[in-house]
Amino acid sequence: MINKPRGTEDILPIDSPLWQKIEEAAREVCAAYGYKEIRTPVFEDTSLFQRGVGDTTDVVQKEMYTFEDKGGRSITLRPEGTASLVRSFIENSLYADPQPTKLFYLISCYRYEKPQSGRLREFHQFGIECFGGTSDATDAEVIALALSFFEKLGVKGLKLNLNSIGCPVCKKEYNEKLREYFSKHTDKLCETCKTRLEKNPMRIIDCKSEICSAIAQDAPKMIDHLCEDCQGHLDKTVKYLDAMGIEYIIDPTIVRGLDYYTRTVFEITSDALGAQSTVCGGGRYNGLVEELGGKPTEGIGFAAGLERLVMIMKSQGLDKELTADTPDLFVAAIGEAADIAAQKLVFDLRKVGIHAQRDLCERSVKAQMKYANKLGAKFSMVLGEDEINNNQAEIKNMETGETSTVVLTTEAIRSILES
Ligand code: HAM
Repeated sequence: MINKPRGTEDILPIDSPLWQKIEEAAREVCAAYGYKEIRTPVFEDTSLFQRGVGDTTDVVQKEMYTFEDKGGRSITLRPEGTASLVRSFIENSLYADPQPTKLFYLISCYRYEKPQSGRLREFHQFGIECFGGTSDATDAEVIALALSFFEKLGVKGLKLNLNSIGCPVCKKEYNEKLREYFSKHTDKLCETCKTRLEKNPMRIIDCKSEICSAIAQDAPKMIDHLCEDCQGHLDKTVKYLDAMGIEYIIDPTIVRGLDYYTRTVFEITSDALGAQSTVCGGGRYNGLVEELGGKPTEGIGFAAGLERLVMIMKSQGLDKELTADTPDLFVAAIGEAADIAAQKLVFDLRKVGIHAQRDLCERSVKAQMKYANKLGAKFSMVLGEDEINNNQAEIKNMETGETSTVVLTTEAIRSILES
């Protein structure tokens, strides 16, 4: 037997209604905020993520699914959506007129991580990106959209954690302070973090190793070293959040695992998740479009992990009232002529959108009715020689047991099903 690859999951029919509900909520909330759907390739040129996500990040250093294709190109399965969207934004000149350009996506992502609860190698994200929104209200809008999405689904107990990681100007000075601090502990840092000390000391704060994160606890915090503009940006952002009645916690330890962020960063967490408690993460990335070859354009967005969201929703019983679609009508048949007529009848009914089922396992009529019950069919009918000759049959409401006679046309059957 061949099993699914480690760190992947089958989304089985029993869970599909929940996934569909999540996707529908994402589309509805995006429509209300004016975000349009975009779909980009599952794989991209490896250099897009090296430059976009950052070559000192765990994602790029340890977790990418990278391979050479038959043409000798280095290809990577997308570990996230933002870099791909920036690429597409530039390549297709999606500079909306008037600005900003508001995009959303529902995608699968691939990271070679150690699988555990809430951490997979193939997982799914609902994300949005807003390009060209210069006002601080953009940050507040993006956060509000994320929270509206969870609220629409009835998810409770989420926490919004917010931080600012500054701009290249204040980050430069701050990085010096971090180097000074971490160089006192160099010998204890993991090998990866030793190399990060020079190139990107902020990454050490986000290291998953226990020793590095213990050392990082007392490291200087960016929020205490913001320049005037960045502080002003944070103050204004929270003012908008306050106006909308959105609660938040300023968490100076958030640095995020990807390199492109500037200023606002945020994470939405749930106690229902255990160790991998972040269901949604995002932030501003003002330099990324330019870094990837586009005109200087501000960007901000987030991505929510859908497997983690499914876990939360199940733990809160939000999957309970969702049931799979059941047949409107089951058509049973006795004898060859009726069997052929049943085939034609369900074909015609399905064409007009009626969910009609018939037996496909050569069951006796008794077994066909048992099967109709198991499927949860709302109505049933039995076709035999008489029914075919008279072009009418008894239709039975499976819940009340009531029967009536119906002519075997789609219109007549539909009017009974809808009555
Ligand atoms: P991220 O924090 O790497 O950000 O991922 C966003 C969310 O994806 C996480 O909060 C988590 O729920 C889910 N996730 C990440 N890795 C895994 C995994 N291995 N297994 C299951 N779920 C996972 C980004 O991806 C950024 N592109 C977000 C963003 C958009 N920032 C700005 N725009």
